[in-house]
Amino acid sequence: MTADAQTKLVLVVACALIDADGRVLLAQRPEGKSLAGLWEFPGGKVEPGERPEQTLIRELAEELGVVVEEPCLAPLTFASHRYETFHLLMPLYVCRRWTGIVTGREGQATRWVRPAALRDHPMPPADEPLIAHLVALL
Ligand code: C5P
Repeated sequence: MTADAQTKLVLVVACALIDADGRVLLAQRPEGKSLAGLWEFPGGKVEPGERPEQTLIRELAEELGVVVEEPCLAPLTFASHRYETFHLLMPLYVCRRWTGIVTGREGQATRWVRPAALRDHPMPPADEPLIAHLVALL
């Protein structure tokens, strides 16, 4: 899967927050968004001038009330998926240390999921291949 000259490239960054029991945080895309109802690793679009780590720090605070320090973000892998109208490139980071209480600030449901149960949560097609990398790590 490669982006061609006609395809818009969208850069999104995602993070697997991992708790002390080795569970992974998933967030459900809310009604009104594309792919509503599917579960995803939290994150968001990289804005112009941002580094992916800065995006994650901003998005995790805005969406979930989670405070992350940059050295706690470790890159794991990335997704590359061609949707109908754009090509998505999405690095996945893992983070085991943060502060704050996870709260779906945009009305989204959140769930701590054991690695073996990740595949029971329907995900956007770009996210699905990331699960194997995460399970191998955990
Ligand atoms: O989250 P947002 O809607 O800004 O993301 C832009 C697009 O990237 C979504 O419409 C979706 O197709 C894709 N996406 C994805 N997996 C994610 C986040 C976004 O496939 N975890």
